[in-house]
Amino acid sequence: MNVDEITRVCVVGAGTMGAQIAQQVALAGGYEVRLYSRSRERLDAAVASNAKLLGKRVEKGKLDAAECEAALARVTTHTDLAEAAADADLVIESVAEDRETKRHICQQLSEHARPDAIIASNSSTMASSFFADCISNDERLLNVHFFNPALVMQLVEVVRGPHTADDVVDACMEFVRRIGRTPVLVEKETYGFIANRILFIAMQEAFRLVEDGYVSMEDADLAVKNGLNWPMGPFELADLVGLDVTQDILSQGHLQTGEERWKPTEILTGRTARGELGRKSGKGFYDYAR
Ligand code: CAA
Repeated sequence: MNVDEITRVCVVGAGTMGAQIAQQVALAGGYEVRLYSRSRERLDAAVASNAKLLGKRVEKGKLDAAECEAALARVTTHTDLAEAAADADLVIESVAEDRETKRHICQQLSEHARPDAIIASNSSTMASSFFADCISNDERLLNVHFFNPALVMQLVEVVRGPHTADDVVDACMEFVRRIGRTPVLVEKETYGFIANRILFIAMQEAFRLVEDGYVSMEDADLAVKNGLNWPMGPFELADLVGLDVTQDILSQGHLQTGEERWKPTEILTGRTARGELGRKSGKGFYDYAR
């Protein structure tokens, strides 16, 4: 597959990541995008959220109103996976970080997508090898990993699996450039790939410093923002990513590598057990109640 052969893209899953990935592909790449979710409500919420975010850009004079309308119209929504995936040249799966859910989706894509369509997983915690046996012709399977919020963050990691064909890797690297993003090539599968492996281990250090009484959460965030120039401190960032997602990434790291440094501790597990999941639930490390 050559990048020029990619004209239609299907994004599977309309959560925080899937919704914005679909919109970025349509906005910056000019591609027709089919966005799939089982849930019509989720699709409607994704469309409304994207319209609001792009609308703000129009208000700020950063985006032309006609371009905004056209980019929104290029994303169509579907509750039938066969219909959404049938004519796609590239499918990006971004469903829940649950192994069985992703394997089930891969099996369905193997059935409904064209046999030469590239299948890219946006998983943060599962390398594409986890799904290789679910896909006919696994040479077209790899990870293409976006960051949150996908309409803003520049980086996309393209991860070569032992099964992935070279032309598929090359096509995805170029595709990422065409959607206005900066790709990095991860040559071998490793837990957390590159950015998350660095980020989440650094977050663990911050969590431990606070748990062990060396610093308050607020001062740890101030230290990292002012001393390291991160745009957000680790606690603010965990609230943005979601404490449940953060805990999941750490737990999987612990499980998959066997390394203690990944093991989530009380400061996180206590909050997730109480349903304090970050911005999306109104409370996490910080309070977002209005
Ligand atoms: N969704 C979409 N766009 C958003 C957004 C969101 N949740 N939050 C902010 N934005 C947009 C704003 O609309 C604004 O866009 P324009 O400039 O085009 O108008 C732009 O981002 C800047 O926003 P603000 O001025 O309101 O705020 P800011 O300058 O503080 O930026 C931020 C907000 C972009 C989130 C910034 O704080 C940041 O970069 N934080 C770090 C994010 C990060 O590290 N992400 C990686 C997380 S790890 C991950 O994603 C991997 C994984 O596998 C879990």
